Amino acid sequence: MPQTSRVIAVTNQKGGVGKTTTAINLAAGLALSGHATLLVDLDPQGNTTSGLGLKQRATETRTVYHALTTDPMGAPGQYVMLTSVDRLALVPATRDLTGAEIELISMPDRERRLKDLVDGLRDRFEYIVIDCPPSLGLLTLNGLVAADSVLIPLHCEFFALEGLADLVGTMRRVRGAYNPTLDIEGVLLTMYDERTNLGQQVARDVRDFFKDKVFTTVIPRNVRLGEAPSHGVPGVVYDARSRGAEAYLALAREVIERTTRPTAA
Ligand SMILES: Nc1ncnc2c1ncn2[C@@H]1O[C@H](COP(=O)(O)OP(=O)(O)OP(=O)(O)O)[C@@H](O)[C@H]1O
Ligand SMILES: [Mg+2]
Repeated sequence: MPQTSRVIAVTNQKGGVGKTTTAINLAAGLALSGHATLLVDLDPQGNTTSGLGLKQRATETRTVYHALTTDPMGAPGQYVMLTSVDRLALVPATRDLTGAEIELISMPDRERRLKDLVDGLRDRFEYIVIDCPPSLGLLTLNGLVAADSVLIPLHCEFFALEGLADLVGTMRRVRGAYNPTLDIEGVLLTMYDERTNLGQQVARDVRDFFKDKVFTTVIPRNVRLGEAPSHGVPGVVYDARSRGAEAYLALAREVIERTTRPTAA
């Protein structure tokens, strides 16, 4: 199985663009499609952890914070917890993770700590999805170094493309220094509202700019996706027939297709 394992970092340093919603629902969609999938919560906000109803349990277990800051980190499996979705596991995060940015600075191989964890789990999972925080700091750097590819959610609004040059620049530096094969999995249009001209215009602009890197699947604005986290389950489980859930299930199919397609250089 290791040869098919794919590590996808969901990243955009802009806040509130749908990273966590995408990480949770893509990972759950992959798991529901029969693939062993691991979600890694790399955000001190812990929204992926709480969105899966595991916030309390995460305070009683070893989290991504311990994995990043314990040297040696020990067996990777000790950081993994089960979720209520079959075939979906989680490396949780709590508020402690805020401190990791500072503690990591003095650690050897501080950019490669998450990679060590993730590589140690590749033989158990076909997909590993990392939910990055809204910044380009040391945590996100760890995510990009650990990943095979990045998935960039873009909120369909006026400033959608703002700051992307910084992300592209960071990816270039990561490729140069740590991870030469880091790929773009795809750009995902999120919270799309087809009724607005602005949404349509932004979608056109993004496709002009990123061409075939943009997923065919577009995630609509859908209230059920927003409600699901408070019930502690992914949107694709909470209301599988909602438009939002259908879109994320289609995204999972698209990712599976892209994974099995030979990648361009
Ligand atoms: N397609 C959607 N339709 C409706 N609401 C959505 C949708 N996607 C995300 N949301 C809601 O928008 C808010 C921001 O989404 P989310 O937390 O996924 O963004 P984020 O990029 O992870 O944010 P942060 O940068 O703070 O980590 C959340 O309240 C979420 O429930
Ligand atoms: Mg988030």
